[in-house]
Amino acid sequence: MLASFKSIGAYVPEKILSNEDLEKMVDTSDEWIQKRTGIRERRIAEDEITSDMGVKAGEIAISRAGLRKDEIDAVICATISPDYFCMPSTANMISHKLGLNPVTSFDISAACTGFIYALNMAKSFVQSGTFKNVLIIGAEKLSSIVDYEDRTTCILFGDGAGAAVIGRTEMQQEAIIDVHTGADANYSDYLITPGGGSAEPTSLETIKNRRHFMKMQGNATFKVAVKTLTKDVIEILEKNGIDSNEIDHFVPHQANYRIIKAVGDALKMPKEKVALTVGKYGNTSSASIPMAINDLYESGKLKRGELMLLDAFGGGLTWGSALVPFGGE
Ligand code: UT7
Repeated sequence: MLASFKSIGAYVPEKILSNEDLEKMVDTSDEWIQKRTGIRERRIAEDEITSDMGVKAGEIAISRAGLRKDEIDAVICATISPDYFCMPSTANMISHKLGLNPVTSFDISAACTGFIYALNMAKSFVQSGTFKNVLIIGAEKLSSIVDYEDRTTCILFGDGAGAAVIGRTEMQQEAIIDVHTGADANYSDYLITPGGGSAEPTSLETIKNRRHFMKMQGNATFKVAVKTLTKDVIEILEKNGIDSNEIDHFVPHQANYRIIKAVGDALKMPKEKVALTVGKYGNTSSASIPMAINDLYESGKLKRGELMLLDAFGGGLTWGSALVPFGGE
């Protein structure tokens, strides 16, 4: 059995938080943010929670796959900003709100690499015959875990969701070619939400010390990201005997324009083949890759059979890459 990337959908909340807005909140400037990250603005969910955004993206992906809702037999949601801490899972909430049958649904936690991890699992489920059509979602309300008093992180992140249906195909040219995933907790403190878990259960002290917010050693993370991603994308191409000029769309995780450029340059990828949404959405963690694929699709640039190279890097530290022909209409 072969697995194919059948469709894409995404949702972004309406409210825009611009660099100029952030200038009024912390000691920063539009110039600094654009120069160091490429970000101009990001979206913020107000009344909506993570599952609401996941539902909207999921609905679009199911309909573009030409499926009825009762044909989806599993939902995997990648998120680090779930509706509820521990349980129920955001995927449970999404499948309930979508009105799906009582299907298998669960979350995975692999930070910004979450969508690639979910893709890997969905591919295996479909190839093994366990499930026929798996809805994978990256959904984040990062504004709920961002410290808007910390200028080193609050300028980076935004909210949004993206979704895809992974289903069966008999056509080799439409099948997902390969997915790589990896992790190394030697760098676990580079990107961490220290408070609220079993390591530091929530207390007045953890809240007072703002331990429930995301913390990042940005510069150290940046260096490991460029090194790891460059190695990983070169490896996945070599392993599958594919030259970088055979890639139609390079769709990297949208954390920082400088990381995207460094990896794209290492692959000698022409600018027009590199998906770039970080300027308008910032870093939306697990949602960033499907949101970027959706942008390509909606602008008419992504056609059936075209080959995408995905890559991502995030807290954990985790990383991953994938070679995925687009199997949708
Ligand atoms: O998605 C998950 C993976 N995440 C990433 O891959 C993110 C990786 N890291 C980055 O994207 C970059 O490291 C940042 C954008 C976070 C930071 O850029 P940088 O070029 O690495 O800056 P830096 O941390 O080395 O800081 C340079 C200076 C510091 O001041 P001093 O010590 O040189 O005086 C910072 O205090 O910039 C200062 N700074 C700021 N200045 C204005 C830090 N944040 C800001 C800010 N506005 N928002």
